[in-house]
Amino acid sequence: MARRPDRTSTFQSTARRRPVDEDEVFSPQERERFEAMRSADPDDHGPCDDGPPSGDRWSIWDQSEPLQRGPRPWPDWIITDLGAVDHELGVLKTGKEADVHLIERAVPGTDRATVMASKRYRSAEHTHFNRAADYTAGRTARRSRDRRALAKRTRFGLEQAAGRWAAAEFDALQRLHTAGVAVPYPVQILGTEVIMEFVGADRAAAPRLAETRPDEPELESLWDQACENLRLMTEHGFTHGDLSAYNTVVHDGRLILLDLPQIVDIYANPMGREFLVRDVQNLGGWFTARGMDAAEVGDLQSELTALAGMP
Ligand SMILES: Nc1ncnc2c1ncn2[C@@H]1O[C@H](COP(=O)(O)OP(=O)(O)OP(=O)(O)O)[C@@H](O)[C@H]1O
Ligand SMILES: [Mg+2]
Repeated sequence: MARRPDRTSTFQSTARRRPVDEDEVFSPQERERFEAMRSADPDDHGPCDDGPPSGDRWSIWDQSEPLQRGPRPWPDWIITDLGAVDHELGVLKTGKEADVHLIERAVPGTDRATVMASKRYRSAEHTHFNRAADYTAGRTARRSRDRRALAKRTRFGLEQAAGRWAAAEFDALQRLHTAGVAVPYPVQILGTEVIMEFVGADRAAAPRLAETRPDEPELESLWDQACENLRLMTEHGFTHGDLSAYNTVVHDGRLILLDLPQIVDIYANPMGREFLVRDVQNLGGWFTARGMDAAEVGDLQSELTALAGMP
């Protein structure tokens, strides 16, 4: 898939928001914005907020409600100051549904700064909506008015879907982090953006497992960690749902699991057992291709399905 351009220059400052109900995915302000999108001309981007110099925004920490922030105790690197600024450092990776950006939250005039990963789920403006213009080219004015109305609703729907994916990922990160599974600490969620601990050093992201060439003891240690993480998840009734050597990274010898919006409840999902087995096989396949005994993968599968009560 073609790489998408860096959208750093369109990074917008955001206004302060008022409290929302705990179980709402979107704040009243966000819903207001979506409503405006449905009724407004798509080319009218509305008034600009006051904000810090271009390319930055005020820290969005205080815009998330308590349940939209990471579990306590907050790590000491979390910056909660109202005067903090979020700087865009660049795009780490563009994906199918989301782009992962590197941001720095810093308190101006001090040396307090923390680098974090910001995963932004693609919303309407960045997905199929632009392509909709191709489909509507050459149609009559009246029909095209209907189609514009439809496109606005579609845009709203896509924005909502992006928010649901973000909420699902934040929820999974919270649950798993609390359970002791090696996942990035979830800092906060706001709309379609999930901010989490950055796994890496000095702004360089940790390599994906698939990019590493571990020697035998390292391979053994990484497999042991994979087993322990999968055991913990199974004990809590979950499996990753898309586990592979591409959705895991290695930092300082630690295996960390990423990319969790599709986390599977192995009991509620009728295909729960299949997902569990597939996760074990996908990740295990990478290890056996590097010399690990295939029996280890079979053993883990038996152990986990027994642990889940689904032998
Ligand atoms: N917290 C993080 N710290 C460091 N790197 C990260 C972090 N989150 C994501 N990345 C990097 O960004 C990549 C994409 O992240 P992720 O898999 O969550 O997004 P995605 O949209 O599902 O991407 P894809 O479609 O490629 O799977 C990861 O493989 C990893 O290299
Ligand atoms: Mg991924």
